[in-house]
Amino acid sequence: MEPAKEEESSVQDEAVDKSNFKNCNHIAFYRRQKLLHPGKSLYQALLDSVTLCNDSVKLQIINEENKVPLLVEIYAIEGNIFRLKINEVAPLKSRYEVPDVLIKEPTTQRLSIAQKEAGILVLTCVGEDRKLHITANPFQIELESKGETILSVNTSGMLYFEHLQPPPQNSKTTAQKKEDTSIDSSQENQEDLGLWQEEFGSFLDIKANGPTSIGLDFSLHGCEHVYGIPEHAETLLLKNTSDDDAYRLFNLDVYGHKIYDKMGIYGSVPFLLAHKPDRTSGIFWLNSSETLVEINTKAVMEHVPSRSPPDITKRRVVPQTDVHWMSESGIIDVFLLMGPTPFDIFKQYAQLTGTQALPPLFSLGYHQCRWNYEDEQDIKAVDAGFDEHDIPYDVIWLDIEHTEGKMYFTWDKKKFQHPERMQELLKRKKRKLVVIIDPHIKVDPMYTLYSEAKKKGYFVKDRKGQDFEGICWPGSSSYLDFTNPEVREWYADQFSFKSYKGSTDILFVWNDMNEPSVFKGAELTMQRDAVHHGNWEHREVHNLYGFYQQMATAEGLIKRSGGQNRPFVLTRSFFAGSQKYGAVWTGDNVAEWSYLKISIPMLLTISIAGISFCGADVGGFIGDPEPELLVRWYQAGAYQPFFRGHANIESKRREPWLFGDENTQIIREAIRERYTLLPYLYSLFYRAHTTAEPVMRKRFTGASSH
Ligand code: GLC
Repeated sequence: MEPAKEEESSVQDEAVDKSNFKNCNHIAFYRRQKLLHPGKSLYQALLDSVTLCNDSVKLQIINEENKVPLLVEIYAIEGNIFRLKINEVAPLKSRYEVPDVLIKEPTTQRLSIAQKEAGILVLTCVGEDRKLHITANPFQIELESKGETILSVNTSGMLYFEHLQPPPQNSKTTAQKKEDTSIDSSQENQEDLGLWQEEFGSFLDIKANGPTSIGLDFSLHGCEHVYGIPEHAETLLLKNTSDDDAYRLFNLDVYGHKIYDKMGIYGSVPFLLAHKPDRTSGIFWLNSSETLVEINTKAVMEHVPSRSPPDITKRRVVPQTDVHWMSESGIIDVFLLMGPTPFDIFKQYAQLTGTQALPPLFSLGYHQCRWNYEDEQDIKAVDAGFDEHDIPYDVIWLDIEHTEGKMYFTWDKKKFQHPERMQELLKRKKRKLVVIIDPHIKVDPMYTLYSEAKKKGYFVKDRKGQDFEGICWPGSSSYLDFTNPEVREWYADQFSFKSYKGSTDILFVWNDMNEPSVFKGAELTMQRDAVHHGNWEHREVHNLYGFYQQMATAEGLIKRSGGQNRPFVLTRSFFAGSQKYGAVWTGDNVAEWSYLKISIPMLLTISIAGISFCGADVGGFIGDPEPELLVRWYQAGAYQPFFRGHANIESKRREPWLFGDENTQIIREAIRERYTLLPYLYSLFYRAHTTAEPVMRKRFTGASSH
């Protein structure tokens, strides 16, 4: 949603204003890391420091320039996965390590030293044909399987690690500096690098810990096709970024987002797949701060050892894709998935982050939504419309206007006087209701949820320790700190029938605006120097915020049913592992043909990143689709995992029977087709749940695919 929207007339602006959002050059840690040019790495491994532990091999590496040592931990994980962790040996304070995403501590296998001489260390996995070659100077790692090098680490020398430092003395705020003419230009350059503070437009981010960014490159040998790292409105096949911005992973509310663009939108899954005819591999970069990914596919010369005559080597040209990850904060914690088949990769990723939760059967049917169904009469009429026109559907939705003043868990007293009776009518037809519950809480001492959360200290704080306040739908709002397990438990309890007045067992939930969206904030989100549970800055956990809200909501629905029923929760913001909690959709798309087209690669990408239960607003959220577009969108949506018609508040009504008999008939057929296929779809979801096969997927043949 656009920040200015509230004040604007009802004229609809379909294009996003990109100047509200950063491009790579606005991002200070990107500018800092770009000062490092590909070449010989500054890091050397200290092979004397190698220690062989039960579950890992540890060694130190050192930066030739600043002499700060880093600790490298290498784990071999059951099922053909390696894990590489790099952190400071002695950080000034702990650095953020992403909790709650891995479903369990991975089961490790013993590594042993096969060779340690002349600056080379070779590790093998007991009883397996996998090897790790570590070169000391420069520090590099090669992963080998059955004699073939699959992937190498730090080949371009982009390993980058900003160690924590004490704040500089006498640091002044920008405002103070503007007044102080004695500041010299070298200090200004430092500011350009955004070490302790960073500006974007009129926004200032003050960094309590200074520069903390990290980066590392990987070379995927023989690969020219890479996929994944949702969410972007882009092609399935990832593009070279050499002449363009990097792919950005930073959850943002981008109303009417541009298409064929690498800017960050609502969700982030830092998982990339590389595919060639005989092997698929994966890189899972476990980091929840802002992340940028550069991709460079090129042709390289490879030496092919030949037996005849023995000392001559042949050369051939092979493709190689270099992938460079950069994150604002945290540690380097990366999982290297060795496949070899695409389905092995899906399993390996699920072994780490979990499989798709099995959806309740009803949620695989058709969902009817708009912003907004006005009142109980409207709901009743739309519900009856489906019967009159003989169109099956399972779920009707209520957007933000159903609440009293955008206070979630309440009902507008005039429009929804008898919510239980309304649900009873739906229930008689075996239908369900989904209501929206956003994470921002209206600042209003009379709103019990607000006053209770405030009293308990459950809101995210600002830098000065006060409850963070930002603008969202209700006006001034505070934001629940879902990173705190106690807050999640309390929030889950809000869904009990006793607490949530007017809710019944056919009511399910939609979590929106959970990037989180803050209308007047920098890039329409929460400032990075806000503070969460455990004193972690928002920058560390940003991409996890929506993940945690959906987790708490799903938990609430499970609890509400005494552990009996599967929940249904739709979220707009997501992270690696969100598949465990429900469904996602692609946010505020536009009623144009190009958005229908892009929904397919977007959903395929989300699916290969583990989240099978995904869909795009049928018809396009913003604007008014011409009838043929609407009809075609129904025909496409009927074959996509999550199937919901949705429309903006300013869009004309578009229930399936409003476009003439012929169009009603085609839409009826598309929706009925969906219901004919329902048992098949349910079985596909069962397979996604049990064996991690994506429900929506293309065939992986090794051929070029767009
Ligand atoms: C956001 C959502 C949209 C919803 C609207 C009002 O724009 O993406 O789906 O209808 O908010 O809640």
